[in-house]
Amino acid sequence: MYAALKSIGSYVPSRVLSNFDLEKMVDTNNEWIVKRTGIKERRIASEDEATSDLGYKAALKAIERADIDKNEIDLIICATISPDYLAMPSTACMISAKLGLKDVMAFDISAACTGFVYLIALAKSFIESNTKKNILIIGAEKLSSITDYTDRTTCILFGDGAGAAIISATEDKNEAIVDVMASADGNYGDLLITPGCGSKNPIRKENLEQNLQYMKMKGNEVFKVAVKTLTSDVVAILEKNSLTSKDVDVFIPHQANYRIIEAVRTKLDFPVEKTALSVEKYGNTSSASIPMAMNDLYESGQIKKGDLMLLDAFGGGFTWGSALVRFAGN
Ligand code: COA
Repeated sequence: MYAALKSIGSYVPSRVLSNFDLEKMVDTNNEWIVKRTGIKERRIASEDEATSDLGYKAALKAIERADIDKNEIDLIICATISPDYLAMPSTACMISAKLGLKDVMAFDISAACTGFVYLIALAKSFIESNTKKNILIIGAEKLSSITDYTDRTTCILFGDGAGAAIISATEDKNEAIVDVMASADGNYGDLLITPGCGSKNPIRKENLEQNLQYMKMKGNEVFKVAVKTLTSDVVAILEKNSLTSKDVDVFIPHQANYRIIEAVRTKLDFPVEKTALSVEKYGNTSSASIPMAMNDLYESGQIKKGDLMLLDAFGGGFTWGSALVRFAGN
């Protein structure tokens, strides 16, 4: 059996937080944000929307487009760093309940912005080992819930949203996900971290007073490693599969920062028109960024059946990975 990506869907909350809105909240300005990041606005979930609500709505679209009955889904995996609940139940379980599924394996993974590439690696293995047949994978984030809106170095970057896909078993090799490479190095953990509310710095008054529950980042250092790793990821997976950038129909890098994407794209010789670019309107949505970008290209007719997509991700951990995925949907 081969694993095939049969559909893509996404959901973004309706509320827009623009750079001009942020100017009123912290000492920043639109020009600085656009010049350094390419971001113009991001979406913010409402108070009563949890990560699973975003993931559920993205999942509905992916299920409908895959043309399967939801009861055929035998595994749900959600990648998130902003789960509904700190420990349990998992966001994947909450999404399964919202879908009305009562007997399905469901769990979360935490791989930060590389979450969607890790999901593809997992789904591929479950299918190739003949363990599961129709897998719903979801990258969903309500990053506004772990963002410090008094910290101008991080709050300008992040947004909320979700993307989902159905990966199904197929006997047709032409539809198969070609390859996935994913890795991590925890020695870089401190550079991008939510230090509080886990077992290391538990939920205690003194930790909350120091805002340890929010994301902290050494932006400059992250930037350098991100460009280097996102580039070497692509070189490695193309070489391993005896391909060049010319064989790729669509390049979908993690949407963290326009300057990072541009640096990687030009080094690797991908034309602009083949490169996904949605950071401008959504900011960095971590595990949701790649499927959201893929969904927008699909909806605008820029991804069609048989196209070879190259996904390229990097995130906290550090984690990183790339995937060569043929679009097997309609
Ligand atoms: N508005 C205005 N000025 C700001 C600012 C903001 N929002 N944030 C920082 N600054 C200031 C700094 O205080 C600094 O001022 P100084 O020179 O007086 O000390 C100056 O701008 C430059 O800061 P610096 O951090 O060197 O900017 P930068 O060019 O590295 O850009 C980031 C900052 C965060 C945009 C950039 O480092 C980045 O994108 N890093 C990667 C982040 C990322 O993608 N993380 C997720 C990976 S998955």
